[in-house]
Amino acid sequence: MTHSIEIKNFDDYLRVYAFSLENNEQFWSEVANTRISWRKTWDQVSQCDYHTGKISWYLGAELNVAENCVDRHIQAGRGNKKALIWVGNEVGEEKIYTYQQVYEEVCRVAHALESLGIKKGDRVGIYLPNIPELAFSMLACARIGAIHSVIFGGFSAHSIQSRMNDCGAKLIITSNGVYRGDKWIDLKSNVDEALTSGCPTIEKVLVVPHRSQPKWELQPLDLNWNEVVKPFTPHIAPSHSSEDPLFILYTSGSTGKPKGVLHTMGGYIVYTSYSHQLVFQPQEKDVYFCTADLGWITGHSYLLYGPLANGVTTVMYEGVPQHPTPSRLWEITDQHSVNIFYTAPTAIRILASLGDAPVVKTSRKSLRTLGTVGEPINPEAWRWYSSVVGEDRCPIVDTWWQTETGGILISPLSGITPTQPGSATLPLPGIEPKIFTEAGKTLEGEGQGALVIARSWPGQMRGVYGDSEKFFDTYLKQYPEHYFTGDGAKRDAANYYWILGRMDDVIKISGHRLGTAEIESACIIHSDVVESAAIGVHDDLTGESLHLFVVLKSNVAKTPEISKGLIQLIRKEVGALATPKKIHFVPGLPKTRSGKIMRRILKKLAVREFNDLGDTSTLAEPGVVELIKQAVMGEN
Ligand code: WTA
Repeated sequence: MTHSIEIKNFDDYLRVYAFSLENNEQFWSEVANTRISWRKTWDQVSQCDYHTGKISWYLGAELNVAENCVDRHIQAGRGNKKALIWVGNEVGEEKIYTYQQVYEEVCRVAHALESLGIKKGDRVGIYLPNIPELAFSMLACARIGAIHSVIFGGFSAHSIQSRMNDCGAKLIITSNGVYRGDKWIDLKSNVDEALTSGCPTIEKVLVVPHRSQPKWELQPLDLNWNEVVKPFTPHIAPSHSSEDPLFILYTSGSTGKPKGVLHTMGGYIVYTSYSHQLVFQPQEKDVYFCTADLGWITGHSYLLYGPLANGVTTVMYEGVPQHPTPSRLWEITDQHSVNIFYTAPTAIRILASLGDAPVVKTSRKSLRTLGTVGEPINPEAWRWYSSVVGEDRCPIVDTWWQTETGGILISPLSGITPTQPGSATLPLPGIEPKIFTEAGKTLEGEGQGALVIARSWPGQMRGVYGDSEKFFDTYLKQYPEHYFTGDGAKRDAANYYWILGRMDDVIKISGHRLGTAEIESACIIHSDVVESAAIGVHDDLTGESLHLFVVLKSNVAKTPEISKGLIQLIRKEVGALATPKKIHFVPGLPKTRSGKIMRRILKKLAVREFNDLGDTSTLAEPGVVELIKQAVMGEN
């Protein structure tokens, strides 16, 4: 018997939500049937075991993700519909591609990849700016079954090297560089440096000449995109298994180096298509604008795969929100009649701090839905977004999710779920969140604690690339039979969720995810440093900012040169996005008797909240706190 899973109002949501948990397999089977074209249907909907960490969805099914995102819309008569509107860093720069044109571009790149010997299962690193070639490269990989691993342009040569070596990439696609605002970022020299330091698996470097100046220096492995990517000829999309890998995206955790989060084809495209449709409620003629860079999961799921699977017109912007003026995002909105706009709270806070004038001088009458993602949004920023940008007529969807979840798990559905400033509201159908107390008990009703998800969903990560134990150990071990998100959350009397932020050592700066461990390992390379601790400190604009506590060798005095050297080192090892806002030179670090740094205390000391340090009884050397306090007070 079929059961309607269509959601038009809040009652439908409640009904479908209940149905989705009671008849989980039937629900996900209907979602998959309605959203995606399959070459072969599944033998089994899911096989998910939180005791072992083995997760599979749509077993035995076959599909082609790129065909779902492109070809099938042409077959459905939407070939002339705009698929991708690219807006460049400079005002007036744009390129528009219809679905037919995206198809042709993807076919060209797919042929080019094959001509370079890239086969199904091979890993392809992509270090490109937010330009159409990035989208085409990802879709071309998906088409032929190669696994893409996109690296955000803000990461350094060292980060490229460690990611490419971890996944054993055969090819890296890059460009000579990019302007972000007025700043030129020389991507190519980062790739050259990574290769010089050693990326033994990389056979070729495919370079997109994005801006004519400056010219890049040709290296032995370099190939010019314009010579390799030949004129269009059709490319036949092969069938892939639902559980074939689609991409690896590296993300920071609380320990060690970034993990290669693995997503597979069938479940990911079902989930991104479904959640995009449900949360944003796009209509056939809508223009949708997600300001994220494709180098992050938001770009993957909700700039590229989700919207294109849904046949939506998606806007891709190369630049930054304030370039050349703080009106830029609203000017793009007016120019392209954007209906749905999706950005990060940091961008909202920065624009709000610049006043209403740059917003109100634009029309924004096309806007219908506004979204946020990546970090908690404070009610004040939410209200500004709602009243000034959305003129109190656009619902705000505060979407909570993670690289690991593949897509949005908790969020209002636009125009359907009653919203509350600062709350991500309710789970999507099929998603069962729970809150655990510190003592490891599930909490019923109101309360706060660790946010976990009780069962699998199709968009869930399948593993950490190259490490079969890590997925289970990191996400499933702590709360048996539940996926631990790493976030704390509060549930109110109406069952609404309020995300409180990370409970682990992950820092979110402007919505960008960084781990303390990778920053600390960079610091100790400095010959004058004994040890260091990186912490996130509340920041009114960027959500959190990075503070470093550094212990120097006993015979070394702090100097501005050491600070400069440390900043350079972190930029070199991790990337510019990890630049510390403040370095505190201190005589020691507060540690427990087992040697664990008590970051909670450092967070207080960093903001000079000396009287409210909480429980310090577990400190191995309580005296160190007073010494750090003296050092912080002595700073100018
Ligand atoms: C945080 C980004 C509050 C959260 C999609 C999560 C949020 C981490 C929200 C994942 C939100 C994301 N409200 N916090 N709406 N969305 N987060 O992997 O701490 O870059 O665990 O994925 O961002 O970051 P990631």
